[in-house]
Amino acid sequence: MTRMWRAFWTRALYWRFWLFQRHRYDRLTLETVDDITLLILPQVFNPALFRTGALLLEVAKAYITPQTRVLDMGTGSGIGAVMCAKITPHVVAVDINPHAVRCAHINALLNEVSFEIYEGDLFAPIAHEVFDLILFNPPFFDGEPQTMLDRAWRSVDVIPRFIAGLQAHLSPHGFALVVLSSKGNIAQFLALCADAGIHAEKITQRDTWNELVVVYRLGMKK
Ligand SMILES: C[S@@+](CC[C@H](N)C(=O)[O-])C[C@H]1O[C@@H](n2cnc3c(N)ncnc32)[C@H](O)[C@@H]1O
Repeated sequence: MTRMWRAFWTRALYWRFWLFQRHRYDRLTLETVDDITLLILPQVFNPALFRTGALLLEVAKAYITPQTRVLDMGTGSGIGAVMCAKITPHVVAVDINPHAVRCAHINALLNEVSFEIYEGDLFAPIAHEVFDLILFNPPFFDGEPQTMLDRAWRSVDVIPRFIAGLQAHLSPHGFALVVLSSKGNIAQFLALCADAGIHAEKITQRDTWNELVVVYRLGMKK
C-alpha cells in the first residue's frame, strides 16, 4: 500500500476512533476478545480497541502446551496471561502499571484462571526465573510517558532493555514472541537483536490499512 493510502487510513481510523470508540478508551469498560471477557480499568490498555495483542495471541496459541512456562510481559488487562492460563498452569504476568496489575487480577477471577502477577519494571520482579515462551506487545513509540496509560504507547528504553535482558530469562529451547507496528522503529529493533546475538524471525504480519503489524520470534543464535 502506498504511503498516501496509509496516511488516508490513519486519518479515517482516527476519526472512527474519535467518533465511535473514544468512550471505551481510558474508561471502565467490559470487553470480549475471542472467548475472553475482560473488565478494563481506566488507565489500562484496551485490547479490544487496538488489536496488536490479539494477533500476538493468535500466533502464541500454537506454541503453548500444558507444560509451557509462559511470561506475559506488559500484561495490561491480563488478556495474554488469561489466554495462556487456559492451556498451562505455569503462567507469570508482569506490568509496571499498578492499574494494569489490579486489572489482570480481576480478569483472572472473571475468567476463573490463575497465574502469578507482579508489578515492576520488565524482568526485575522475576530476576531468577526462566521461561519457555515470553510474550511482549511493547510500547511502540519513543518518548517519556506522561501517564500510566501512556506507558502502553511510549517509552524511553523499554525495547532495548527487554532485548538486553531476554537471554537470561529463556530456557534452553525458549523463545520470545514480540509484536511490532510499522509505526514504530522495526529497523532499530532488528539491529538491537543482532547486536545482542538474538535471531529475529518474522512469523506473520497483518496489514490493518493504517499500519503493518508484525510478529517476530526471538531466540538465541546457536
Ligand atoms: C501495548 S500495551 C500491551 C498490553 C497487553 N499485553 C495487550 O496486548 O493488550 C504495553 C504494556 O506494557 C506495559 N509496560 C510498559 N513499560 C513496561 C515496563 N518497563 N515493564 C513492564 N511493563 C511495561 C504497559 O504498562 C502496558 O500495559
